[in-house]
Amino acid sequence: MGLFGGSKSLVGVDIGSSAIKAVEMKPIGKGGFELVSIGHVPLLSDTIVDGHIIDLNHVSDVISRIFTEQGIKTREVGTSVSGHSVIIKKIDVPYMSDEELQERINWEAEQHIPFDIQDVNLDYSVLGRDPASGSMQVLLIACKRDKIAQYTTVISQAGRIPVFMDVDAFAMQNAYNLNYQPMPTTTVALLDVGASVTSVNIVRGDTSLFTRDISAGGNQYTDLLQKELNLTFEQAEALKRGVPTENGLQPDDAQPLIDSVTDILAMEVQKTLDFWRATSQMGDSAQIDRVLVAGGSSKVRSLTSSFSERFGIPVEKFDAFRNIRFNSKKFDEEYIRELSPNMAVAVGLASRTM
Ligand SMILES: Nc1ncnc2c1ncn2[C@@H]1O[C@H](COP(=O)(O)OP(=O)(O)OP(=O)(O)O)[C@@H](O)[C@H]1O
Ligand SMILES: [Mg+2]
Repeated sequence: MGLFGGSKSLVGVDIGSSAIKAVEMKPIGKGGFELVSIGHVPLLSDTIVDGHIIDLNHVSDVISRIFTEQGIKTREVGTSVSGHSVIIKKIDVPYMSDEELQERINWEAEQHIPFDIQDVNLDYSVLGRDPASGSMQVLLIACKRDKIAQYTTVISQAGRIPVFMDVDAFAMQNAYNLNYQPMPTTTVALLDVGASVTSVNIVRGDTSLFTRDISAGGNQYTDLLQKELNLTFEQAEALKRGVPTENGLQPDDAQPLIDSVTDILAMEVQKTLDFWRATSQMGDSAQIDRVLVAGGSSKVRSLTSSFSERFGIPVEKFDAFRNIRFNSKKFDEEYIRELSPNMAVAVGLASRTM
């Protein structure tokens, strides 16, 4: 899927609200990949607010900086979007040919998308046709044009060429397919707990069954620590990551506050999983075998164990480099391991180098 573009050798650039991540890989036969370059640079706070890039120049500067620092020569970039400007829906339409669908897709989309169809880029794919019932199921993806324009502008301003645009949740799913090679019957909930958005993608085998973005993430922890413990943003961020503050606050002092945010987040995710179970037509087989958590906030202390306790299923941190080769002379293994959950989307984008 892609909101535009084809496929070529490229660099996956994940423009997150807290940091820009870039990954370049090269195919090494049999669907395998080797890491070529990796970059992770934090953004100043309030650069991206509510999914909108407020400071385009800062974002494009950071992108150029990553390319320069990592010596990345490839100019083609694949990126992705998430949040409220993106709508992903499965819709039922009358049975028709591909040509008819192409002609009618705007009209069909209009019935399901809360935005003016003129204001969005549309992409769709046919999930299944059922001539007997006279209907077919179509996956519809729409993203506000102004959002796409912002994301392509920062890449162009950085002197690179935006060649395709995906959705965060599907990029992570690519990384999942590549790294976990799921059995067709395995059902997994993929979570990406970032700074401002938590995306949920329930997949069976390599097929997405349900997606939803929840507007909450790591920022909720930082906000609460800031307020309750009277800290600056930077102090609260550091404490959340387990670094004691200069005035003697220990990570343990923050743990009850951290746990309270984890509880709320777990509840939100649980609601989403319950909603899927209740509305899916799979009946008793609407079961999730395990949960894989990507995103920087997967590293919040006790998050995976709390989630597991609440959901009653195994929850693990996502390893974006589980199946990707890298030269340990060129890359520090510790660094790659530490950054691995944060890089899920970028790895998924970079794996489209075929
Ligand atoms: N070791 C850690 N412990 C706890 N939280 C962490 C740790 N490392 C990073 N984070 C948090 O993870 C978040 C950043 O993760 P990530 O890079 O996945 O988000 P993003 O892609 O920038 O955000 P979004 O996708 O929501 O726009 C921040 O809230 C950061 O504080
Ligand atoms: Mg993200």
